[in-house]
Order: sequence, then C-alpha cells, then structure tokens
Amino acid sequence: MKRYFIKTWGCQMNDHDSEKISGVLSSMGYAPSAALSDADVILLNTCSVREKSFQKAFAFLGRLKKMKEENPSLIIGFCGCVAQQEGSRIFERAPHVNFIMGPRSLGSIEKLIDQSSSSSICLDPLWKDDFSMIRFESFVRKTFPKAYITIMEGCNRGCSYCIVPQTRGREACRPFQEIIREAIFLSESGFLEIELLGQNVNGYRFEDKTFVDLLRGLLKIHSLKRIRFTTSHPSHLSLEIMREMKENDRMCNHVHLPVQSGSDRILKLMNRGYTARDYIEKVFWLKENIKDFTLSTDIIVGFPGEDDSDFKDTISLIEKIEFQNIYSFAYSPRPGTPAAKLNDNVPHSVKLERLHSLQNLQTSIQEQANREWIGRDVQVLYDGKSKKDNNMLSGRTKNNKIVNFYCREPLKDRIVTVKIKDSSVHCLIGELILS
Ligand code: SAH
Ligand code: SF4
Ligand code: F3S
Repeated sequence: MKRYFIKTWGCQMNDHDSEKISGVLSSMGYAPSAALSDADVILLNTCSVREKSFQKAFAFLGRLKKMKEENPSLIIGFCGCVAQQEGSRIFERAPHVNFIMGPRSLGSIEKLIDQSSSSSICLDPLWKDDFSMIRFESFVRKTFPKAYITIMEGCNRGCSYCIVPQTRGREACRPFQEIIREAIFLSESGFLEIELLGQNVNGYRFEDKTFVDLLRGLLKIHSLKRIRFTTSHPSHLSLEIMREMKENDRMCNHVHLPVQSGSDRILKLMNRGYTARDYIEKVFWLKENIKDFTLSTDIIVGFPGEDDSDFKDTISLIEKIEFQNIYSFAYSPRPGTPAAKLNDNVPHSVKLERLHSLQNLQTSIQEQANREWIGRDVQVLYDGKSKKDNNMLSGRTKNNKIVNFYCREPLKDRIVTVKIKDSSVHCLIGELILS
C-alpha cells in the first residue's frame, strides 16, 4: 500500500485543509505514514504569515532533496499559502518539487498526484472556489470529538501588514445548506463540538443568510453540545452575534478576538477599522453579560513607527482586559502588503524587548486568573491524554481553559465534571467527580 505524509504549518484552516487532503488521499488508496522516510507522497501545507513561517517551509523542503535523489519516484507537493504566494518560482528554487497547489485549489489534489506519477511537474495555484469538490464525508478528522467546519475562506479586510488576502484570496462563503448538512453529518457521527472556520467568520453571508442565521440553524442540531468559531474581527462581531452568544448556553463563552495593538495611531496605520475604545466596549459587554466569559487575542509588536507610548497603550489595554491568552508576534514585513512600503524602523532588539515584557505581564495575569479557579467544579469535554502526563486526561472547558485531570477508570461520557485542585500558567489541574 502506498503511503503519504503531510507536514502542516499555520492556522486552524491549514490544519483542516490537511484533513481534507488526507481524505482525498485515503479515497485514492493511500495510507498515512508515521515516518517521513516511509512515504511515497510528501505534502507540505505551508504558512506565509511571517517571514519565519515562510523560511520554515523552505528549510523543510531542503531536507527532502536527498530523499528525492535516492528515490526519484517520491512525489513532493508544495501546498498552502507559500505555494500561492510564490507559484512557479518554487520550481526554480527547488526542482525536486513535483507540484504546487494553492489553498483554494484543494479539489485538484487527485489530478496533481496522478500527473506527478508520470513525472511531469505541475502547477495549480488557481482559485476555483468550489467548496464541494472534496466531499466532507471523506475528511480524515484528527480532533474527535471536536470538528472543524469551513464556512468561508479568504479576506476582504486588507489589514496593512497581512499577506492572507493575497494567499487565500477574496472572501467566498460556503452555501448555508451545505454547512448545515455537514454539521448534521458530524453530529450523527458522534461529534459533540464544532468550530466554524474562516478568516473573517462573522462576515459570513450566503444569499439572504447571515452569520447569526447560520448560528441559529446550527443550534437546532441539539446533539451538538458546543459551538465555537474563529477568527472574529472586532468590527464584524456585532451586538446581534454577541446576544446570540449570551442567549444560548451551547455557544461557547470564549472568543478569539485579535486586537493587534492598543494604540489608535497604530491601529489606523494597520487599517484595522476600530479604536482601542471600540474594542474595549465590546469586550466589556461580553464580560458583563456572559458568565465566565474569556478572550484570547493576537498582538503585533514593533509595527513600523510604533514608539514607546504606543506600546504603553498596548500594555494598558492588556491590563484592562485580562486576556485568557495572547498570541504575540514581532512585526514581520510581508511582500506586496501596504505596510511593506513603510520603513520597518523598530530595531529587532526593541521588538524582542517589547515581546518579552508583554509576555511577562501576560504570564502573571494568566497565573493569577487560573489560580482563581481552584476549588470550582467545571464541565470538561475531554479529547485525549494530557501531553505532559500520560496518567492524566486532557480537555477544555466551554470557555476554552485547558484542564488536565486524573481518572483511573474508563469514562463513558465525553463531557465530565472535574474539581479543580491546582493550576499553572497554561492549564487547570483537577480530579474527576463521578456522577
Ligand atoms: N484570519 C486571521 C489571520 C491569521 S494571521 C485573523 O484575522 O485573525 C494570525 C495573526 O498573525 C494575526 O492576527 C496577526 O497578529 C499575526 N500577523 C499577521 N501578519 C503579520 C505580520 N506581517 N507580522 C507579524 N504578525 C503578523
Ligand atoms: Fe489578515 Fe486582517 Fe484579514 Fe485577518 S482580517 S486575515 S489580519 S487582512
Ligand atoms: Fe498562515 Fe495562510 Fe493561515 S498564511 S495563518 S496558513 S491563512
């Protein structure tokens, strides 16, 4: 039996694209390979969001050169956002690649692998926008009992630093009924949680249906116990959506809401379309109206022109909001983006210093916030063993806290009650309460 290996970088959408690609490969008769060296097909599903992610893809590709020399029938496919960005330039840089495929052409994967078998090199970074080209029944899902559902792809926002609109293209929304059908299929297959995916999920629109209509449609599927979505844009997370979250306890009480900066001047240069105050008002509505509501966010430090006082504004926003966690990045200029024309004038050492002080502050906020959960009973949807301790199970609360807990007997329910006994920066630790 032929084997495949997929190396994935980047966001949840890339993770899920790899699940879709795995589905096609399985239906072609391929089995997954645990080791790179046993694979007949190796696919790189790449991310281009920062220079470092871009470099990682090429570093990995470099390692495959020798393998291809030793085994010329090995098929190497270069997929994902770097593939879209670089197109045929990849062949010049790495002639051992068989095919290149952008993230909006997943439906071409079978054809590309077939063509590669006859050793021609092929390129398919075209945007076909046909979500139904891979049947959702065939996806190889890796996150049971949680599942991703793509509801839209691409982004029309045009944040000045971001390459995603170039790599994923303009927004395209998937037909409403097809999303509902996929969710019903998942619930009938035993999945308990779905996470709706899109670069700007709240902007979903299909014919007369909005994101709120979609949530209402999905909430009718009662065996789905939890619904999440990512990523939200602060300008699109409307009061109507927030009310829907408040009124339904199967809507998760957590949102990932990238703020990027606490300085209005920088937010304007980033073309984000909101002020720090707009953001804070929304967040306080959520915190005041929804019990135990938590937020995570993304922050970029060292955007061109960011001075000490801009950075202070970011720090004071973090102190005000107390995020559950923060993904923080040093600004990295991306080719073809409007910000790439600005002078990247914050020295690298200053970017690192700012990252460091932001992360220190966040660590102490997280430690304190998690400690406050000691003694409470929480509902955990467990999804596997703890990575740190094999004797423990791991899962998440509805508000997205990681909970590791001891459990000696096999569990029949996937959602269990855990008494929290201890905590750390990244998780809560507890003991199962038997019902
Ligand atoms: N659709 C997602 C974007 C994914 S990129 C969203 O809108 O949230 C994830 C994060 O990477 C962004 O939120 C931003 O914080 C960061 N990022 C994007 N471009 C970057 C750049 N040029 N330099 C540093 N960080 C960047
Ligand atoms: Fe990029 Fe902004 Fe679109 Fe997110 S909203 S994908 S950061 S352009
Ligand atoms: Fe990266 Fe593409 Fe996702 S650039 S963050 S894999 S949309």
